[in-house]
Amino acid sequence: MKTIDDLGDLRGKRVLVRSDLNVPLDGTTITDDGRIRASVPTIRRLADAGARVVVVAHLGRPKGAPDAKYSLRPVVSRMSELLGKDVAFATDTVGESAQAVVAALADGDVAVLENIRFNAGETSKDEAERGAFADQLAALADVFVSDGFGVVHRKQASVYDVALRLPHAAGGLVLTEVEVLKKLTVDPQRPYVVVLGGSKVSDKLGVIDNLLGKADRIVIGGGMVFTFLAAKGYEVGKSLLEADQIETVKGYITRAAELGVQVVLPVDIVAATAFSADAEHDVVAADAIPADRMGLDVGPETSKLFASALADAKTVFWNGPTGVFELEPYSHGTRALAQALIDSGAFTVVGGGDSAAAVRRLGFDEKAFGHISTGGGASLEFLEGKTLPGIAVLES
Ligand code: 3PG
Ligand code: MG
Repeated sequence: MKTIDDLGDLRGKRVLVRSDLNVPLDGTTITDDGRIRASVPTIRRLADAGARVVVVAHLGRPKGAPDAKYSLRPVVSRMSELLGKDVAFATDTVGESAQAVVAALADGDVAVLENIRFNAGETSKDEAERGAFADQLAALADVFVSDGFGVVHRKQASVYDVALRLPHAAGGLVLTEVEVLKKLTVDPQRPYVVVLGGSKVSDKLGVIDNLLGKADRIVIGGGMVFTFLAAKGYEVGKSLLEADQIETVKGYITRAAELGVQVVLPVDIVAATAFSADAEHDVVAADAIPADRMGLDVGPETSKLFASALADAKTVFWNGPTGVFELEPYSHGTRALAQALIDSGAFTVVGGGDSAAAVRRLGFDEKAFGHISTGGGASLEFLEGKTLPGIAVLES
């Protein structure tokens, strides 16, 4: 992959930067600014080199038209604070405002265009429609820097098609992320333990399939674990369950046994009467979840079990909280897991917006982890061994 250095002297050049600024918002308040902070170094570097920096990004999944609740405006204020300089904001994607804002940039200035998904061309499955939008984006710049690692698994106009139209390079964040994830796929130090959580098994099927041939141990928590418990024949009450995946999961459990890969499942569960911090809740055995309860976190015995599964690890990849960490009564499993990762002394990679946010929200020092990835789906697809369109296009 070409790097920013390969682009030569950028003074006075218009550089289109694709960042992933898709941060969680509560109204207009950013609840976790990790992705903005991770994007700033590349933007600062380009500005310092005298480029006219035009940042494009998405927020949420608007339906191809402007929608005020997905505006990037709050993100622009935060970026401006972090950069310590004014950041211009275009109120459209490639229209009059974008053109005027870009035309007004002086060397070293930074602008952000409004949520790129406000234009249907961005995510269109129709190559021609996407291409036409990419043409308009490319017209705003002289070179393209891809730095939104969290979206490189998307074949979208500002990630993929625009790179076909402009001289391009990978930004520092994309380079770092790829380098770290390669360490996990090519000859990881063993034992290599993968911890998967989060709500949906169906999002993780590909990665589990692939990891069965790579990891020494797979530790499972989060909402997805109830499909595993159901596959073992346990009652899971009102817990999250993907009944249509039970057979697939049974197949994984059998294959893991054949391959000698240990699958570590919870032995106890925090079971609540409702999805609420105030709901009645108790620790129950994993095979004794009452019919009227839902599991919202793993229990304390499970936390000990998980910690022992991590103790001798040399490499750990963790994606997905063990429970509903946003609600205090169900945050303990995730907290204990994060602590066990730190205590293991392993090279630890935390992937996925939720786990990264959990680490920060629960008050851990990010530096205690080897790497906190800005990519959720992107890091999982990388580990699955899939071709990521936004990376492949940079390699050509
Ligand atoms: C993410 O949050 O995973 C990335 O920003 C990609 O967003 P998307 O899943 O809506 O494409
Ligand atoms: Mg996603």
